[in-house]
Amino acid sequence: MVNNETMIKTARDNAVGIITLNRPEVLNALNIKMVAEIVFALERFDRDETVKVMVIQGAGRAFAAGADIDEMLDKGSIDLELHNQFTDWDRIAKIKKPIIGALHGFVLGGGFELALSCDILLAGQNTEFGFPEVGLGIMPGAGGTQRLTKLIGHQRAMKWLLTGARFSAAEAMNCGIVSSVFPDELLKEETKKMARAIAEKPALSVRLIKESVHKANELSLFEGMQQERKNFYLLFSSEDQKEGMRAFKERRKADFKGR
Ligand code: CAA
Repeated sequence: MVNNETMIKTARDNAVGIITLNRPEVLNALNIKMVAEIVFALERFDRDETVKVMVIQGAGRAFAAGADIDEMLDKGSIDLELHNQFTDWDRIAKIKKPIIGALHGFVLGGGFELALSCDILLAGQNTEFGFPEVGLGIMPGAGGTQRLTKLIGHQRAMKWLLTGARFSAAEAMNCGIVSSVFPDELLKEETKKMARAIAEKPALSVRLIKESVHKANELSLFEGMQQERKNFYLLFSSEDQKEGMRAFKERRKADFKGR
C-alpha cells in the first residue's frame, strides 16, 4: 500500500478526482512505484462517495512516454515473474467509476496502455501515439496487444505494433481510439467539461453503464445482453430512477442522490 504520492499529484474539482502523472523530466515514464501510486489513487477515489468521475492527465510535455526504460534495462525474466508488476495494472480494470484520459504530447508504450485502461480518451491535436516496444526488443506487456486489437482490429493493430511507428491524434480519432480531439490549449477545459457533465448524472446509471460496456468486450452478444438487462432491471430499485422520471414529468431538473 502506498500512501506517499511522489510521482503523481492528486486533486479535486468538486466531484471530479484528478490524477496528474508527475515525472515531467522523463516524460512521465512509468516505473513500478508510480503505477502503484496511480492505482492507489484510483482506488481511493473509487471508494470516496463524493467523487463521481476520475481524470488521468500528464504534467509537462507528455501524457506518458512508456514504462521506465531505466528501471527495466537490467531486469531478468525471473525478476519480472517474481515481482509480477502487472497485477497492479490489472486492478485498474476493477475501478467502477468512469476514468477519462486527457492525452497530450507523447502517449507511448506503457503510457498508451494506461490510456487504453481508461473509459473515455480525449486528445490534444498534437498528441503522438505508438507502441515503440518492438524497437527495444520487447513487446507491450500491460494489455497493449489485447486492448488495441479489440479496439481497432487486427490489421491496424498489427501495423502499429509491428512497426512501432508513431501516429497522430487524427489517426487515433479515425481508428476510434479517442473519442474527441481538441486544440492542445483547450484539452484541459474540455476534459473538465466532460467530467463535470458525467458527474452530474445519476451515479448508479453511470456505474452500471460502464460495467455493461466493458462486458461487451468479454461476453458473447447474447450473454452481454442478459447482463445489460439485469443492470437495467436493477436500476428500477434506485431512488434516482424514480426521481429522474418524476422530474421529467414535472418538467424540472432532477435532484439525483446517487442511490
Ligand atoms: N523511460 C525512461 N526515460 C524516458 C522514457 C522512458 N520510456 N522516455 C523518455 N525518457 C527520458 C529520456 O531518457 C530523457 O531523459 P534525459 O534528459 O535524462 O536524457 C527525457 O525523458 C526526455 O526525453 P528525450 O530527450 O528523449 O525527448 P525527445 O523529445 O527527444 O523524445 C520521445 C521524446 C520520442 C518520447 C523519446 O523520449 C522516446 O522515444 N522515449 C521512449 C519511448 C519508448 O520507447 N516507450 C516504450 C517503453 S517500454 C514499455 O512501455 C513497456 C510496456 O509495455 C510496459
